Amino acid sequence: MKFFIDTANLEQIKEAQDLGILDGVTTNPSLMAKEGITGQQNILDHYVNICEISDGDVSAEVISTDFEGMVREGEILAALHPNIVVKIPMVKDGIKALKYFSDKGIKTNCTLIFTAGQALLAAKAGATYVSPFIGRLDDIGYDGMELIAQIRAIFDNYMFETEILAASVRNTMHVIRCAEVGSDVMTGPLSSILGLLKHPLTESGLAQFLADHAKGNK
Ligand code: E4P
Repeated sequence: MKFFIDTANLEQIKEAQDLGILDGVTTNPSLMAKEGITGQQNILDHYVNICEISDGDVSAEVISTDFEGMVREGEILAALHPNIVVKIPMVKDGIKALKYFSDKGIKTNCTLIFTAGQALLAAKAGATYVSPFIGRLDDIGYDGMELIAQIRAIFDNYMFETEILAASVRNTMHVIRCAEVGSDVMTGPLSSILGLLKHPLTESGLAQFLADHAKGNK
């Protein structure tokens, strides 16, 4: 499973990149605003900064919701750096835009996926990634992971090349469950990745090894 980090924070992207396990980055307009990145040129510059840190795909989201606007914005974003993936919302014109970019060989990520039907439609339009939001489904009493499993079954039935990018990952258990059900990618906060490191027996075991070594080498 590929690991993407879901943030526009350059320090956190660098920390994950330095670990050597980062495959890409996802952003959205809320994450950009959280970092105080506003104004079109600043936003474009920030995407370039992210691409200079990460070796992998970097999702950059369009703001338009009409076909012409999405194409215009997406072309500007895609020209910024070869790693840019144009992130398109799951709306009717978005499907047309996914097909347009797919035909031009530009990578896309269809965002705000909450049903298997939406994922199927995006895959039919040639999306590179679909982003089912598991945390937001869990928040309202649905099982986000069940959606990932359902999309996995559908994509496998028809050998769609579209990758499942589990988004709205909130914690380490989400990451593990994504791997269990066969998500191609998960995108989560740095804390959800670093949580994979932790176990109290690892910590106490290491403390014991180091103490025993110190005793024997006095
Ligand atoms: C990813 O592409 C999404 O923008 C993101 O994962 C949403 O996460 P949230 O539900 O925690 O805001």
